[in-house]
Amino acid sequence: MAESMKGMHRSHRCTEVSKANIGQEVTVMGWVQKRRNLGGMIFVDLRDRTGLLQIVFDENEVGEEGFAKAGRLRSEFVIAVKGNVELRDGAVNENLKTGEIEVRAREIRILSEAETPPFPIEANSQTKEELRLKYRYLDLRRPDIQRILMLRSRIVNAVRTFLTNEGFLEIETPILMKSTPEGARDYLVPSRIHPGSFYALPQSPQIFKQLLMCSGYDRYFQIAKCFRDEDLRADRQPEFTQIDMELSFVDVEDVLDVNERLLHSIFAEIGVDVKLPIQRMTWQEAMDKYGSDKPDLRFGMEITDVSDVVRSCGFGVFTGALEAGGTVRGLNVKGQAGMPRKKIDGLVEFAKTYGAKGLAYAQVHEDGSVKASFQKFMSEEEMQALLAAMKAEPGDLLLFAADKVKVVCTVLGALRVELGDRLDLYDKNEYRFVWITEFPLLEWSDEENRFTAMHHPFTMPMEEDLCYIDSDPGRVRAKAYDIVLNGNEIGGGSVRIFQNDVQEKMFEVLGFTKEQAHDRFGFLLDAFKYGVPPHAGLAYGLDRLIMLMAKEDNIRNVIAFPKVKDASCLMSNAPDRVDPKQLEELGIAVVEEESEVNS
Ligand code: AMO
Ligand code: AMP
Repeated sequence: MAESMKGMHRSHRCTEVSKANIGQEVTVMGWVQKRRNLGGMIFVDLRDRTGLLQIVFDENEVGEEGFAKAGRLRSEFVIAVKGNVELRDGAVNENLKTGEIEVRAREIRILSEAETPPFPIEANSQTKEELRLKYRYLDLRRPDIQRILMLRSRIVNAVRTFLTNEGFLEIETPILMKSTPEGARDYLVPSRIHPGSFYALPQSPQIFKQLLMCSGYDRYFQIAKCFRDEDLRADRQPEFTQIDMELSFVDVEDVLDVNERLLHSIFAEIGVDVKLPIQRMTWQEAMDKYGSDKPDLRFGMEITDVSDVVRSCGFGVFTGALEAGGTVRGLNVKGQAGMPRKKIDGLVEFAKTYGAKGLAYAQVHEDGSVKASFQKFMSEEEMQALLAAMKAEPGDLLLFAADKVKVVCTVLGALRVELGDRLDLYDKNEYRFVWITEFPLLEWSDEENRFTAMHHPFTMPMEEDLCYIDSDPGRVRAKAYDIVLNGNEIGGGSVRIFQNDVQEKMFEVLGFTKEQAHDRFGFLLDAFKYGVPPHAGLAYGLDRLIMLMAKEDNIRNVIAFPKVKDASCLMSNAPDRVDPKQLEELGIAVVEEESEVNS
């Protein structure tokens, strides 16, 4: 039978007890980490979210009944202990914050017994993730996860404090709403009262925060849950959290400025001094030099365009790509000329997974001789010109991709990051930020056979490019920006369109008819008719931010109850079937997928 806490009040968390309490009586409560019987005494490591504290049970001090109870303790029992703080008799444990002291129990109560957990509650668990996620409530007891969630809470608190001090108002926006297209699929919620109609869960509060600007709230923020039905990866969850903000009467500079100071202030929480101003790079430069709109700048290895140098060489792979309007670009992997053939073949295979048809390479040996996969197609002069363009020195390995610009950027960008990892080219403790600016407004979708918004349809084009919006839409740049940290997009935003004619033009370019635009965004267009301030904003992926701050490589580790790759929750089994009666109320019939036997 579990005992009650009655008459006992916790005086300290485990690691709040210190040498300053020596000689005092304390009451502590928590979980039994470990019990050891030694020389007629029982030692218990008591655990709570702050850490461990040693409790000593001596029959002379705790009495016969208390000692018998202590003898029954097992891992994960929840207990309350009253006792005196003393210096440890035995060896000091330097790994513990409370390693010099112990509590000598006078009274013990067993508040809850525990079955043997399916895996040990310990840091650096070797237990498979599926099992841990099935018992997430136990997994969450582990100190490394607790440390991350405590960090997360601290950072959210720092964000709130900073933004509030900067004059931002925290305002909630609806979860049940009409869909705002941000590129991903919506999660839909059927309406009972309006059969056949659906709410969408927000992919972000985008439209609502813009409406708040129309309503004069001037500076808004929200720690906002967002929902996107997209394929999951290590840095994506179907529901995730944004630090979302919007500001009135501002331009790009103002948004970047307040956000640089925000980043400086929250990274100070983990002892990182973010140097301001944060570097800026245009999207074009990022793509050209790093093959990516989220470059990891902790190391160099920039991409070099050698198209002009190889335009009339004898290697058909190069000239063919150029004749088709493509490009030839290369990476200079310093000091890797001696990379074994097998490893180079591995890089070629890696490149192919990113869409490369192949990879050409040249090894510049220490004696100056060159061995290239395309040697027989090139004259000595052509080869020398290529080496010069690549700034090749003895010892270098050169890798080349020839294809459409987009493919080459993707391939070399991915290869660069992969090589940075494999060759250990950067300092894992560095936090390197960069703003990526001047994104293209639109990108062509082969799938939909139309232009789609690169950020979202409310993003303001750059004034000087507006003249191309009809003649050459792909050329128009946007007042959009991303904040990138160590090769991860941690946030993004833009200055918004606030003129109805520009917004309607944008919808037209995106292929919406006037009716479609009004059906979906009529309320925003209407709001713009009644006086709208120029406005801009940004949103961070909070989970990604915490993941990087905590040096975790998976977003699941920073979310209390995450979902796995197939968007299910292993603990609760969501999503699940529902009672037919619920479906009936909603007017919904489920069409079972026909099995192959029937079809
Ligand atoms: P965006 O779509 O770029 O912009 O999202 C902002 C940031 O949210 C994070 N993020 C995600 N994190 C985890 N799982 C996901 N599935 C996921 N998707 C996005 C990223 C990203 O940088 N309304 C605009 C912002 C604005 O214009 O103000 C928006 O949502 O870190
Ligand atoms: P292939 O003509 O496909 O046999 O390729 C000849 C050589 O060129 C091989 O070493 C390929 O890896 C390489 N190669 C093929 N396609 C490309 C490409 N698009 N870019 C760079 N190298 C390539």
